[in-house]
Amino acid sequence: MATKQTNAPDAVTAQAPGRINIIGEHTDYNDGFVLPAAIEHKMTVQIHRNGTPSTVNLTDLKEQQSFSFNLLDFSPMEESWQNYVMGVVSELQKLGGDIKGFDAEFESDVPIGSGMSSSAAMECSFAIALNALFELGFDKLQIIKASQLAEHNFVGNKCGIMDQFASVMGKKDHVILLDCRSLEFQYFPLELGDYQLLLLNTNVSHALASSEYNTRRSECEQGVSVLKKEYPNIKNLRDVTIEQVVAQKAHLPEPIFRRCRHVVNENQRVLNATEALLAGNFKTLGELMYQSHFSLQNDYEVSCPELDFIVQHTIGKDEVLGSRMMGGGFGGCTINLVEKGRVAEFVKQVSKSYRDRFGIDLTPIEVGIGDGAKVIQ
Ligand code: GLA
Repeated sequence: MATKQTNAPDAVTAQAPGRINIIGEHTDYNDGFVLPAAIEHKMTVQIHRNGTPSTVNLTDLKEQQSFSFNLLDFSPMEESWQNYVMGVVSELQKLGGDIKGFDAEFESDVPIGSGMSSSAAMECSFAIALNALFELGFDKLQIIKASQLAEHNFVGNKCGIMDQFASVMGKKDHVILLDCRSLEFQYFPLELGDYQLLLLNTNVSHALASSEYNTRRSECEQGVSVLKKEYPNIKNLRDVTIEQVVAQKAHLPEPIFRRCRHVVNENQRVLNATEALLAGNFKTLGELMYQSHFSLQNDYEVSCPELDFIVQHTIGKDEVLGSRMMGGGFGGCTINLVEKGRVAEFVKQVSKSYRDRFGIDLTPIEVGIGDGAKVIQ
């Protein structure tokens, strides 16, 4: 890889957003479909060469924390934000990226543990900043995959590709229908007529999230290995119909049958929801969101009492068409399809009920749909 060219930048500022997901949860690592969008909440990183061959100095501006490591000798730490950065550096190095000493300062307004993918915002902002500063020449897909692998190898979450893809490829006011197998995608305008999206952050993040996530992934693999005996041509749950899953119920142990049922139904819901969105059929879109939630709650078992409570609270309210947990689960936000002009009243009621029940304040978040990661300077 090239050493510093005379016109190479000495400093770069880059941003990468978090994401929402309209529907399609835990489908990405099963080669399925998702319908996310990048949001205006983002991480901003300022990065400059510090003239050393291998010293990296990181500063978290919000938490006022600093950390240094050596590019020639670093490894994952106990659960911590440093792993996201070191993981990205490590993956870019594996691709042959020649990274020299740098200082970075960063700040994010994506709430952590909210299911809005603050992790992808961090990974992707660092990846594109390093790519620009050291003129590594990687394309967007390489950036996306390196960021995903950073999370696998340094953080220990065997995540799918949705979050990093949305963070890099997002387009203002559009959702992305992504086929997580081929990585083919289409942008569709997010036009919701008299309705709008509203996130409600439970402000809880249960410790199970990471270990259960990886467990779900391997449960899906177990399901595939059983189904393969009957359908040898399938590669994973993407290739199976719900009729096939049901036909094999006797051979799929509990809870594997329910895990498979969720993934296969959820994939179909993504396609149906996209059609409903394009047709302006928001009632159907909302119903699919509810179905998604109940499937994540009962079949996939990645919800939690706080998320379930909020979804339940919306039922029977005519200003809400749909509500479901968003992201990996075990806490974070619900995403709600709410009538414009009635949001304040709805937030007031649900916040009170939530506080009465759990003693916790709910945070309503009205997200704007923004562009994907970019170098801004
Ligand atoms: C997390 C992961 C994604 C995806 C979602 C669930 O956000 O990072 O890859 O699997 O959970 O849909």
